[in-house]
Amino acid sequence: MSDEIAFVPTMGALHAGHLELIKRARELSPEVVVSIFVNPLQFENPDDLAKYPRDLPADTQKALAAGATKVWAPLYEEVYPREIEKIFAGPIGELFEGRHRVGHFDGMLTVVHRLFEVVKPTYAIFGEKDFQQLFIVKKWVIENNVPVQIISVPTVRDKDGLALSSRNVRLSEADRKIALVINRALSTGSREGMLSTLAAESNFQLDYAEVIDEQSFGLAVQDTKFKRGIVAGWINGVRLLDNMAMGSN
Ligand code: PAJ
Repeated sequence: MSDEIAFVPTMGALHAGHLELIKRARELSPEVVVSIFVNPLQFENPDDLAKYPRDLPADTQKALAAGATKVWAPLYEEVYPREIEKIFAGPIGELFEGRHRVGHFDGMLTVVHRLFEVVKPTYAIFGEKDFQQLFIVKKWVIENNVPVQIISVPTVRDKDGLALSSRNVRLSEADRKIALVINRALSTGSREGMLSTLAAESNFQLDYAEVIDEQSFGLAVQDTKFKRGIVAGWINGVRLLDNMAMGSN
């Protein structure tokens, strides 16, 4: 018997992307814990928090079917029983996603720290879908010698290329078609290509579209080895986020 735990932290509204993380977890360990907790600390927008989709019975079923051995849906008081020990994401937490969602990454790291404290995982599995989150978690783990191995899983997409997201259920059929502009933009492989593609879709309100250096999360330069396009914006009040590798030099 191994006492290794593979841990998949989520906010629920599970889709095939989350389930891929759970399957990966199951490959790493026979014991797979999935947490479902909509963490108020990482929502800077009360409306987004209120509208976040929740369906615990369906989520529990899906997680177990994908290979979870324990589904943990704690109450706020279990996660934050005492005065909250805030974890700061540092300067990278203030860029891109963090510039548009002030305090988001501090709230995210604060809950990840607490969840790790309770679950004590050997492995924790995160999706590339939230590339800046993945980067910040990995950096925090390395810099603080947190005894957890961070494993990443590529973004799971619908057949038409739209990255799966819990927020997609809030898109109408027409909005969902508009959302495909994000994948088209990233597929151009350059910042100029992304910007012109996105600008041609008047129903998409851009937050940012940049090409970053995967190793530093700074803006990519000419000879950056691993580049990645990152995009975020709004369609009809729903915020969407995606990224794609843009080749190497
Ligand atoms: P949530 O948005 O529920 O995502 C949970 C995990 O699923 C994250 O690691 C995310 O990157 C991954 N994920 C989401 N969509 C994906 C997709 N299409 N393909 C692959 N992986 C995908 O991210 C959070 O929750 C929270 O910030 C959390 C880490 C749980 C802390 O509260």
